[in-house]
Amino acid sequence: MAGGAIVNAAAAKDYPGKLTVFVFFTCVVAATGGLIFGYDIGISGGVTSMDPFLEKFFPEVFRKKQTADKNNQYCKYDNQLLQTFTSSLYLAALVASVFAATVTRVLGRKWSMFGGGLTFLIGAALNGAAENVAMLIVGRILLGVGVGFANQSVPVYLSEMAPARLRGMLNIGFQLMITIGILAAALINYGTNKIKAGYGWRISLALAAVPAGIITLGSLFLPDTPNSLLERGHPEEARRMLRRIRGTEDITEEYSDLVAASEEARQVQHPWRNILQRRYRPQLTMAIMIPFFQQLTGINVIMFYAPVLFDTLGFKNDASLMSAVITGLVNVFATLVSIFTVDRLGRRKLFLQGGTQMIICQVVVGTLIAIKFGTSGIGDIPKGYAAAVVLFICVYVAGFAWSWGPLGWLVPSEIFPLEIRPAGQSINVSVNMLFTFVIAQAFLTMLCHLKFGLFYFFAGWVVIMTIFIALFLPETKNVPIEEMVHVWKSHWFWSKFIGDHEVHNVQMASNKTADA
Ligand code: BGC
Repeated sequence: MAGGAIVNAAAAKDYPGKLTVFVFFTCVVAATGGLIFGYDIGISGGVTSMDPFLEKFFPEVFRKKQTADKNNQYCKYDNQLLQTFTSSLYLAALVASVFAATVTRVLGRKWSMFGGGLTFLIGAALNGAAENVAMLIVGRILLGVGVGFANQSVPVYLSEMAPARLRGMLNIGFQLMITIGILAAALINYGTNKIKAGYGWRISLALAAVPAGIITLGSLFLPDTPNSLLERGHPEEARRMLRRIRGTEDITEEYSDLVAASEEARQVQHPWRNILQRRYRPQLTMAIMIPFFQQLTGINVIMFYAPVLFDTLGFKNDASLMSAVITGLVNVFATLVSIFTVDRLGRRKLFLQGGTQMIICQVVVGTLIAIKFGTSGIGDIPKGYAAAVVLFICVYVAGFAWSWGPLGWLVPSEIFPLEIRPAGQSINVSVNMLFTFVIAQAFLTMLCHLKFGLFYFFAGWVVIMTIFIALFLPETKNVPIEEMVHVWKSHWFWSKFIGDHEVHNVQMASNKTADA
């Protein structure tokens, strides 16, 4: 449809240089920033389905759960305070990412990651030692601040470090770490749930310190990106760094494009006001719609509440934690598919295929649940039937894991020009966190009211977002990050927002520096 491949051919550019070992390792270290986010996503659902945890902090839910078998299955976990435990983190991350934008711009991407890791570490300690709900929630807020900083800086760091033709692959390292974090959390919950003395939840929460330690220490060894060095007025260092990360002396063209972009950026005094200008409308639209849609896929219903959901479906407690491990494994392996295809097939194909797969699965899962539980929520699921539900949930997770999961972070991080990059990324993170919060806060209540219709609700949204991508997202594979303006300029819809002189400016500035 709307022009992906043609647009791409017009703007694709290949600078000399290879994927150096140095760049590979810096990207691996930076990507571990995703671990803290993933660990969090995965840990809360399991912990909130553990009886000793509920009994200590949420006695009302605990009592309700004990008597639920005869009552409505759909509603047994519906409790605002319990949902606040899960969701408070995302609200904190939302606010933090706004501040992180300034830190990322002024001090560089590296210190943003370091600050995030450190705050997260303190939050983990507080959570592991929690004696009351207040300690739990304050801990979650600190974790959230950490996630806000990491999610702001890591994707941008990866996209700036990577050579254009491998940018998708290296950037998805972030999502891969998210999924590994989620899986690790599911495994740990499975283990700690077996601790008879009832303190398993403490171990689950305190172990968040491990991924936090990795990114905090790791970030100290990371160099800053050439783009950020230039932006902060260190041209010589930037040139040296570019040589080093590309493994060649022949960096003149790429360097001059970076200089041009950074000169453009220097003229911009107020990135937050600037991003509202008409010529940034395509980027602004994507910065809002992509994270919004990513959360409206409904993925976090599975990620946060898989154990609770499977428990609701009548699996025994242990079996429901196990199902979370299974979906976690699918999530990790399916992410690998996108790593190896994203720079060849491109972003659009993955979005469209993954979306279609998700729609089909959601309709099937909703229908399977409707048949057994109807609207009363009373029923029993036989083993084989339950296996079919899990199977379709897994195929759905796989579809997400090679489309909206990684691309929800990759695409926004690669489309903003330098002058609005931190502001744009911050909008992306904030919108993502806002809707992660909304889903986390509302899911148990929605399940209680919409029942099996919840799955149809999300399927409807995936239909809408798939059409949106088909019409409005141009292909960005292989296009150097500072050359992205050409992509919008040749898009059937967005071209009218980009004046000829805007493209010309970038070209002129880059010719000028190349001549110098
Ligand atoms: C999303 C998370 C989600 C995760 C699942 C990420 O890209 O931002 O909300 O839980 O993928 O793997």
